[in-house]
Amino acid sequence: MEALQSKFQDINELGIYLHIPFCHQICPYCPYNKELFEPDAARRYTRAVLKEIDYYGIIAGDRPVSSFYIGGGTPTTMLNHGMDEIVNHVYKVFNMQCSIHMESHPNDLSEQNLDTLESIGVNFLSIGVESLQDRHLKALCRTYTANEVKKTVSRVVRRNFSCVNLDFIFALPHQTYKEVEEAGKELVGMGIDQVATYPLFYFPYTRFGKEIVKHSPGIPTLIKRRRMLRILEEIFYDSGFERSSVWAFTRKGIDKYCSVTVPLYLGLGASGGTYLNDIFYINTFNVAEYVKCIENEMMPVALSLDLTDPMKMAGWLYWRIYETQFSKADFFQRFGVNFDMQYGKYMRWLAHLGLLKDDGQQIRLTDKGSYWLHAFEDVFSIDYISKLWGNSSSDPWPDQVILG
Ligand SMILES: C[S@@+](CC[C@H](N)C(=O)[O-])C[C@H]1O[C@@H](n2cnc3c(N)ncnc32)[C@H](O)[C@@H]1O
Ligand code: SF4
Repeated sequence: MEALQSKFQDINELGIYLHIPFCHQICPYCPYNKELFEPDAARRYTRAVLKEIDYYGIIAGDRPVSSFYIGGGTPTTMLNHGMDEIVNHVYKVFNMQCSIHMESHPNDLSEQNLDTLESIGVNFLSIGVESLQDRHLKALCRTYTANEVKKTVSRVVRRNFSCVNLDFIFALPHQTYKEVEEAGKELVGMGIDQVATYPLFYFPYTRFGKEIVKHSPGIPTLIKRRRMLRILEEIFYDSGFERSSVWAFTRKGIDKYCSVTVPLYLGLGASGGTYLNDIFYINTFNVAEYVKCIENEMMPVALSLDLTDPMKMAGWLYWRIYETQFSKADFFQRFGVNFDMQYGKYMRWLAHLGLLKDDGQQIRLTDKGSYWLHAFEDVFSIDYISKLWGNSSSDPWPDQVILG
């Protein structure tokens, strides 16, 4: 705690990420930290998170919090099991200057739960729709039909959320172009504000990652995935959506649904990650260990990484590119370093390949650049994430995780 206090000295603005590690079922492709929902575990978890909020409240003081994201797992499992207590406490302890962005599962979105979401201040809601075709929902082991999920979405869009996002997975085994096109058209016709589209990733430590060989017949190749994404991009652009991140397309004029938007943030809960000026650390992934630690008045931090200046700059650049555009002035403001001096030669090379545009002030990723970032993620980030999350899932307190 004392060591942390000094790390907050130069921070003027923070984000908060809260992880809810519970789900009503475990999907075979899912890489996230989660376990099956159980009311007693949720009750103990609530008490622990309230205490963790108090720790950070003392350190963060009245610094404004300008971004609050609740992810999982499935946050909506806790709607009637502690979520309102946690959210109220966050707003009581921190200087909150923002509303809430939250992930949800379609099966949890009854009218009553939607009332609860609105009453606790969730303004930006994401729904894990994943597919609009029964054969793919079945292959993904999702526990609803296409008709059911369409009804759920129409219930949600009648409410007053500022932005409703649908998560949609493409490049599924044996998926055809026609299916992608039909689903894309249906998605934009549902009255929603945003779609986040991901190709299905095979994380080695998930059931799909173990069982399905990535290059086996029926798994779309890189070229096929590129064409599927192109089909979706065209439908979204023609329907008045614009790219708002590498994955997401938002209706023009709408504030986007997104994860934490500020560079420095606190991560609460099991597997919550915290990024401060010169350190990145993550809490233990194990829910029972997380709770035990907090009950024993200890910080639940499992792994930390001291950040050198080049790492901080590269981390900043990675996330800004992910948002598809940024200004060089923001880089200078953050690091006091001229962007072109630091990265100019790489940017010129990438611009030459048509992956980005540089107008002197702003860098903007092209559609081609976004696609190659997808492909890059598949090869490199998935590998890093798999090592970090895979190790952390199997060992609550790893000595170290070597990413390289
Ligand atoms: C935490 S989940 C969303 C909320 C909720 N748990 C649910 O499943 O509906 C986040 C999203 O990540 C995406 N996702 C999960 N595993 C994935 C994978 N292996 N490949 C691509 N996208 C994946 C899905 O679109 C999912 O909706
Ligand atoms: S996809 Fe969603 S519901 Fe399924 S295991 Fe992952 S977090 Fe839970």
